[in-house]
Amino acid sequence: MKTIPEEWSRLSFAYYPTDYNVRCYYRDGKWGAVETSSSEHIVMHISATALHYGQEIFEGLKAFRGKDGRVRIFRWKENHERMNFSARGILVPEVPEAIFEEALRRVIELNADYVPPYGTGASLYIRPLLIGTGARLGVAPADEFLFVIFVSPVGPYFPTGFKCVDVKLVRDVDRAATLGTGRYKIGGNYAASLVSGAQAYSEGFKMALYLDAKEKKYIDECGPANFFGIRENTYVTPDSESILRSITNMSLRALAEDMGMTVERRKVPVEELSTFSETGACGTAAVITPIKSIHDKEMNAIYRYGDEPGEKSVTLYRRLQAVQLGDAEDKFGWVTVL
Ligand code: PLP
Ligand code: COI
Repeated sequence: MKTIPEEWSRLSFAYYPTDYNVRCYYRDGKWGAVETSSSEHIVMHISATALHYGQEIFEGLKAFRGKDGRVRIFRWKENHERMNFSARGILVPEVPEAIFEEALRRVIELNADYVPPYGTGASLYIRPLLIGTGARLGVAPADEFLFVIFVSPVGPYFPTGFKCVDVKLVRDVDRAATLGTGRYKIGGNYAASLVSGAQAYSEGFKMALYLDAKEKKYIDECGPANFFGIRENTYVTPDSESILRSITNMSLRALAEDMGMTVERRKVPVEELSTFSETGACGTAAVITPIKSIHDKEMNAIYRYGDEPGEKSVTLYRRLQAVQLGDAEDKFGWVTVL
């Protein structure tokens, strides 16, 4: 048995060991049964395609404990669909919905003690992982795969919580090519962001904001999150082939419309940054991370949005959390109550 956290509200976004994970193997052209494991390790062939040729997909979603003590999973079907979209993108077999659901429910139920209590600001982060385990030396897809789901209780992605952060606009690195793999949730995209992310961090910024790789004219996305800007009653967010289709962003667009806002999903030129009153990064881990300033060093420009989260960002954040925690009516059908 591992240790249950004592101070839930002090958790950060970090790996925290739990009792079990679940696994399912793909061999001889088919998926096997969902298995339970108490090991935090996997044994893999030294020539597995996940290790050499990046056949690796992951997902990220959360479960929350409500005031009623029940556990709510947020929009898991969207994560399942996106995982299979990524699978098609790098020649990995899709995971049937029934296997994904069985694995998901089982891993949460087995680790129920690790779902943070209501009111702590913490949640259970769920990490599905799908990797090529079959051995290849030439560049080719594997013939064996492993699907794993593990969980970790987490606090806010940035230790400051719902506070504004400074962001660096990166012009000397492309995170993802226009017709490349940016729209898939695969490890290589994150490897491609490590140097620029660390550089931004060493310069005092919390996140790197990337531009489209082809023209370097339009906003792509923001570290491990999508970007949005707010101008008067309008929510603006980039449409790009090289960014992840964020489920949080999708949800915020629906909530914004529900609040009577206009939603624009389109190319967002860098110059438009000066017209927003609020900007933010959004994602499962980041939730909404409001942006204080964006520094475009090469162009000698700094866009400032104030030290405190803007009114619309605060409302969107509260509304999203209320649905996730079960404090508000789930009128879009986003929540699966266990
Ligand atoms: N963009 C990137 C690169 C991410 O890693 C994430 C995190 O999952 C997101 C956007 C946000 O997506 P979601 O809201 O589905 O978590
Ligand atoms: C998430 O928000 O779920 C992510 O996957 C971000 C992660 C790379 C930290």
